[in-house]
Amino acid sequence: MPASSSDVNPSTSAAKATDITWHDGHVDRSHRETLLGQKGALLWLTGLSGSGKSTIAFHVEHALISRGVLAYVLDGDNIRHGLNSNLGFGADDRTENIRRIGEVGKLFVDTGVITLSSFVSPYRSDRDSVRALLNSGEFFEVFINTPLAVCEQRDPKGLYKKARSGEIPNFTGISDPYEEPTSPDLEILTEDLSVDEAAGQIISLLEAHKKISRVK
Ligand code: ADX
Repeated sequence: MPASSSDVNPSTSAAKATDITWHDGHVDRSHRETLLGQKGALLWLTGLSGSGKSTIAFHVEHALISRGVLAYVLDGDNIRHGLNSNLGFGADDRTENIRRIGEVGKLFVDTGVITLSSFVSPYRSDRDSVRALLNSGEFFEVFINTPLAVCEQRDPKGLYKKARSGEIPNFTGISDPYEEPTSPDLEILTEDLSVDEAAGQIISLLEAHKKISRVK
């Protein structure tokens, strides 16, 4: 029997494992980074639903791959079809959603891959927890700043309409809070930018921090 409720995994109600040991491998991250000619980083895109996070993240991924940089997108809607399909949009589930992606992102960064995550991630404390999980210089908070009115006007999935009518509860920006980043590593004001220009700002950030080489 578990000793206390903190010994119990909340999502499975099973006892947490205790007799486990960390194993070091024979190659470390610098070997992988040398192999790839780049340094791992997690670009954490946060913003309202419909703000353009996924569109920008996939654009950056494509641009990087085109120039020989290994990149990968962890996308909120997509990950909720698989790894996080057992989570909803209550506060605890959103926190667990972001915690898992933080851990997955950390693994990806350890492989040397430029990793882009596109999650609403509305709670500041959850984003800060992910930052704390990674080493300094590996995590970049990127605020995709698109006004709510613009997201709602776009409403690409018709979700704002449903949220306004009460069909979807706890909808970020309507009936659930979005806590804007206070000091993001990059803030992209998307309203007057093309997708290509927005993506370019992220790529410039990677170059400035020497995660990837500049194109000659
Ligand atoms: S997060 O808040 O836990 O970070 P996540 O990025 O995984 O959210 O998923 C957000 C996407 O789920 C939105 O883009 C939208 O398509 C969809 N969605 C469905 N219900 C909600 C809701 N209540 N609040 C926000 N997004 C929702």
